[in-house]
Amino acid sequence: MPRAAAALLLGLLLGSTGLRAEPAIFQGADLAMGRKLIQENRCDACHAEKTGGKPHAIYRPGKRLTNAGYLRGMVEQCNTELGLSLFPEDVTAIAAVLNLEHYRFKD
Ligand code: HEC
Repeated sequence: MPRAAAALLLGLLLGSTGLRAEPAIFQGADLAMGRKLIQENRCDACHAEKTGGKPHAIYRPGKRLTNAGYLRGMVEQCNTELGLSLFPEDVTAIAAVLNLEHYRFKD
């Protein structure tokens, strides 16, 4: 089966079971790079300080951030405020990892 047809079939299958792939803005994001950037920029280290040692407690799906666009926006805001000089695709990669591991927004 040609790849495009296989991808289409997979998409239909996932769609029909209600199991959607990642939000459109995270499609094609470089997850390996995202994980690396999260380590390099000490995201977890600082969050752990703020939460009494539980780095992931800072991620609260549905509290302030309610969709993928807000999540990406929040990472962009950290980027600016902390002066991290991340490129747009870096911000997307980081947000995609956070979504996969914590927020699980579908759109
Ligand atoms: C110098 C400390 C510090 C660093 C470094 C830092 N953060 Fe944060 N971050 C915070 C604090 C403090 C909050 C909580 C802000 C609040 O509740 O108003 C936060 C909140 C967040 C939130 C929102 C959580 C939610 O669900 O409301 C996200 C997403 C986030 N940070 C991502 C990142 C990422 C990604 C990095 C690394 C690129 C990073 N942060 C680096 C201090 C930091």
